[in-house]
Amino acid sequence: MASDTPPLYRQIADAIARQLAAGEYPPGSRLPSVRALAARHGVNTLTALAAYRHLEREQRVVARPRAGYYAALPVAGSRGGESSVPLPSPAALVDLSRRMSTLLQLADERIAVQLHMAEAAPALYPFAELGRRLQFALARQPELIGAQVPGPDQRRLMAALAALAVERGLALPADGILVTHGVTESISLALRHLTRPGDTVAVETPVYFGLLQQLEGLGLKALEIPCAPATGLSLEALEFALRHGPAVRCLVTVPSFQNPTGALMPDEQRRRLLAIARRHGLTVIEDDVFGDLHFGAQRPTPLKAWDRDGDVIYCASFTKSFAPSFRLGWMAAGRHHAALSLLCASSTLVCSPLLQSVLADVLESGDYARIRQRLRQQLQAQVQAFADAIEHHFPRGTRLLRPHGGLLLWVECPESCDTTRLLQRALAEGISFAPGMAFSAEPRFGHCLRISCGQPWTPVLEAAIARLGKLARTL
Ligand SMILES: Cc1ncc(COP(=O)(O)O)c(C=O)c1O
Repeated sequence: MASDTPPLYRQIADAIARQLAAGEYPPGSRLPSVRALAARHGVNTLTALAAYRHLEREQRVVARPRAGYYAALPVAGSRGGESSVPLPSPAALVDLSRRMSTLLQLADERIAVQLHMAEAAPALYPFAELGRRLQFALARQPELIGAQVPGPDQRRLMAALAALAVERGLALPADGILVTHGVTESISLALRHLTRPGDTVAVETPVYFGLLQQLEGLGLKALEIPCAPATGLSLEALEFALRHGPAVRCLVTVPSFQNPTGALMPDEQRRRLLAIARRHGLTVIEDDVFGDLHFGAQRPTPLKAWDRDGDVIYCASFTKSFAPSFRLGWMAAGRHHAALSLLCASSTLVCSPLLQSVLADVLESGDYARIRQRLRQQLQAQVQAFADAIEHHFPRGTRLLRPHGGLLLWVECPESCDTTRLLQRALAEGISFAPGMAFSAEPRFGHCLRISCGQPWTPVLEAAIARLGKLARTL
């Protein structure tokens, strides 16, 4: 006769699920041993084990070899094995042309603690205020919805950007500025203008994997020049490569809060870099995507401020510092401006007039400084909390340099730690990060990893870092 009463192991599993939901066992905490659970419910250990196995399949608990069962980190969205799409394998990261896409796929709701993308939590941005400003712009100019060619708002924006540039020490004519869809598009335009397939481009190593993927897409070769977490690009290595290596068409560099190392190039070194570029006829593409996220009082001065000879194509953006979804950036390309305007017109025509109008409003009102300051303070506190936890939980011999801005931490584990394997293990427990081997075409950084500190610090993050540290120790 069929009974409505669930089997004993399900009743026990349901009881634990209720305790988990009530917060009796916080995420990452240890659950009673199988033996203790059996004794508590007056069943044999196999029944208790079946209860844990059931909860494990539901991703509510995690089994740790020889350590027992632990409360799982919360899974965002729906629970259980509903999705039949497998998570990407970290091994896919060896495929250069898919590196960026593979990491993007990790934004999967089955991964509860996502630390792999260089982005801040949406809640850190002033979305309510931006929503109001969007409504206001539309109420004032409903025709912006139908606009698709540059209008007066773009001129307003360019004047506001020229004023912003002055604050950074750059004297730019408003008509020398090009509005783009972020630094990604600016760099792509600059590379298309300066290079032909087969050319060599100097980049930092470790390097932002998005740039490697871009170079490969354009049929370009990357010449990787070491970048130190403290001071950035090695000028000695660059000069040596320029003297003795293959012909280099241009250099792409992130002098302020480099991705992934967070390095900040000192001013003196910036001047020397420009002198080297001049001597070798090298065009420098400056990626200043993180410059506005400085923790100290002073914003770093872009390389472009010292550029007397038009060797620097300056690329900046608001995607990290203001409104990621606007996808707005800008570039100042000096003597290359006319050619880049043509290329831009043929590839993307124009950036959204509506969003340009809102950005112009925010810059003109002076509110950008306030928005930025709040974000910078939050990121500084978060980076510090992550760094403290990593130093506490990761194995002895792990190295970490605390950056002066941005939202990334570059962690160098002991050489024996394979962070691609670590990622495989971490994904199974609902935690992601960017493994070191994504940041070079060569297998140089297999023991390193990049953690994004974009989310406000919580006990769940603390538990995730503790778990990563423990896994790293076992490797
Ligand atoms: C070094 C670097 N450059 C460029 C980008 C992308 O910039 P944007 O969003 O402005 O296209 C990123 C994104 O993480 C980055 O880390």
